[in-house]
Amino acid sequence: MLGKMAAPVLEHGEDAFRKLFRFYKRRNPPPDFSQVIDFSKRVDDERVFATELDHSSLGEVAACSAGLRPVKEWRAFGLQAHPGFIFISNPFLPGSQRYWIKQCLKAYPQKPNVCNLDMHMSSTETENIWEKSVESIRKKGKREPRTLLEKLRWVTLGYHYNWDTKTYSADHYSPFPPDLHTLSQTVAAACGFPGFQAEAGILNYYRSDSSLGIHVDESELDHTLPLLSFSFGQTAVFLLGGTKRQDPPTAMFMRSGDLMVMSGSSRLLYHAVPCILPAPACQPLPSCLDQRLEKQPVSEDLIQDVSEEDWAVCSRYLQTSRVNMTVRQVLGPGQTLPTTQPLVGAVSESRSGYHDESEEAAQNVKKRKNESGSEVDC
Ligand code: OGA
Ligand code: MN
Repeated sequence: MLGKMAAPVLEHGEDAFRKLFRFYKRRNPPPDFSQVIDFSKRVDDERVFATELDHSSLGEVAACSAGLRPVKEWRAFGLQAHPGFIFISNPFLPGSQRYWIKQCLKAYPQKPNVCNLDMHMSSTETENIWEKSVESIRKKGKREPRTLLEKLRWVTLGYHYNWDTKTYSADHYSPFPPDLHTLSQTVAAACGFPGFQAEAGILNYYRSDSSLGIHVDESELDHTLPLLSFSFGQTAVFLLGGTKRQDPPTAMFMRSGDLMVMSGSSRLLYHAVPCILPAPACQPLPSCLDQRLEKQPVSEDLIQDVSEEDWAVCSRYLQTSRVNMTVRQVLGPGQTLPTTQPLVGAVSESRSGYHDESEEAAQNVKKRKNESGSEVDC
């Protein structure tokens, strides 16, 4: 393809992951995405196999109440190279993604949950992030300063992850949102993990120039339990590697509504998000977000309708953003967390070599590096 970089040939060797990460992160010339698996299309790829989930594990009523299609309609896939990894191509009912998106933007950033802005702002300044941002987002011209919502990078739920020590602790906890707990338990049950307890959540907010560095999620105490990931908004490239940095990763698109389950031997694999794809000019939002709920929710339903007013803000925000929720069970049976050890040194805003930003956001990166002293890991 003229003007595009071909995917690098990967030998087993040093830093195969880093090489591919940089390849997809690059903007000029744009990378060739032809090796990226696209689960939204008919998949005819020897790296991929279709997988049947156990339909009996989740009733249609429970699925529907959580805004999900019946399990028998889910398009679920596995990857030959990564046993235990499950990719489910947007199992949400029309309109129901809007609810989770609104929760990520309006509800979950609120106290007592913790977000990146708390690291250098007072609690009154970071109160009501949504209310402080909506007016400006609604009327936004290009040159307005960024709103708090647009400065949001991460929110932690339940046991709040400590980016510096890479640990959870018993005394840094707030109640996990019950709606997201139910969604997580529902999805986990359909994937063969009944009784999953959502105990910690990390929400990541990506602008079009953001990326997430190469890492393994190993801070949870029980690694036999799955890690769930929900994607909304703009499409990202996800890289899933092996247990070593030298193992060549598999690239796939994560589109709005897609779910990923890292379970079994895929639970501790290296992974990263090297780039967010720019929205096509003709379609600023993925078409699955155009729809409203087909049936009016009843009050017992988990999913509730999102007002046109709130959706106007969410949809404007998502034209240049992606939101991802990862949900983890931290403790296995009988396990407990220690309480926090007194911390020496400052608390960092960045994900300590984990959250990553592009050169275009250099100013921001510089500021973050100055504040946190951390380097990006890629
Ligand atoms: C994470 C993670 C992936 C994503 O938060 O640990 O890997 O798509 N997120 O944001
Ligand atoms: Mn991760």
